[in-house]
Amino acid sequence: MELTGKKALITGASKPTGIGYALALKLAEAGADVAVADLVTGLENVSGYVSTGSNPELEALAREIEKRGVKALAVPLDVTDPASITALAEKVKAGFGSLDVLVNNAGVGFGPALVVSMDEQVWRKTLDINLNGPFRVVRALFCARAPASSTCLPAPAKSPARLWPLIVCPRPG
Ligand SMILES: NC(=O)c1ccc[n+]([C@@H]2O[C@H](COP(=O)([O-])OP(=O)(O)OC[C@H]3O[C@@H](n4cnc5c(N)ncnc54)[C@H](O)[C@@H]3O)[C@@H](O)[C@H]2O)c1
Repeated sequence: MELTGKKALITGASKPTGIGYALALKLAEAGADVAVADLVTGLENVSGYVSTGSNPELEALAREIEKRGVKALAVPLDVTDPASITALAEKVKAGFGSLDVLVNNAGVGFGPALVVSMDEQVWRKTLDINLNGPFRVVRALFCARAPASSTCLPAPAKSPARLWPLIVCPRPG
């Protein structure tokens, strides 16, 4: 894969054991500048949550990306918080100018496996992260990369898929 000069963003990337972390390094090795974003403050208020990334891990990943000879951005992010997503879009625009690859990797699989044992707060939080989160990120990043003179909503003949060569949304676990 040859991605020299391309700009990529991966959400939920800071955990060294995670898919997002591995993808970030692979994209950097292919020559892309890579922005990595993750929740670094925890979700302690939601029962059943297992773990999140951390700020030191996110920063350490950015340094690993830079060792591959490309540019890195490390951005704290909560995909349930519209203000955090707006800040992400602004940082990507300021740091990279444009975006070619978006990997909507942030997600959770928390709570008990059986729906009958899951309380509603956990169900709602899971949906907000895994379902609404990618929607919010795509919308904000699309708006951030659109020319100032144009609408940020895609016209039928100008779909996000054509503007972004690759958009990846892992299915929730
Ligand atoms: N590992 C699997 O077998 C599997 C299977 C199916 C789907 N998935 C999905 O693939 C993705 C990556 O899986 P993984 O195993 O590497 O998981 P992981 O837990 O290692 O990574 C998910 C990341 O998402 C981040 N995250 C959680 N909530 C967030 C929020 N509100 N805002 C921003 N970031 C948030 C976490 O901090 C974490 O770093 C996840 O979306 C997961 O649901 C994984």
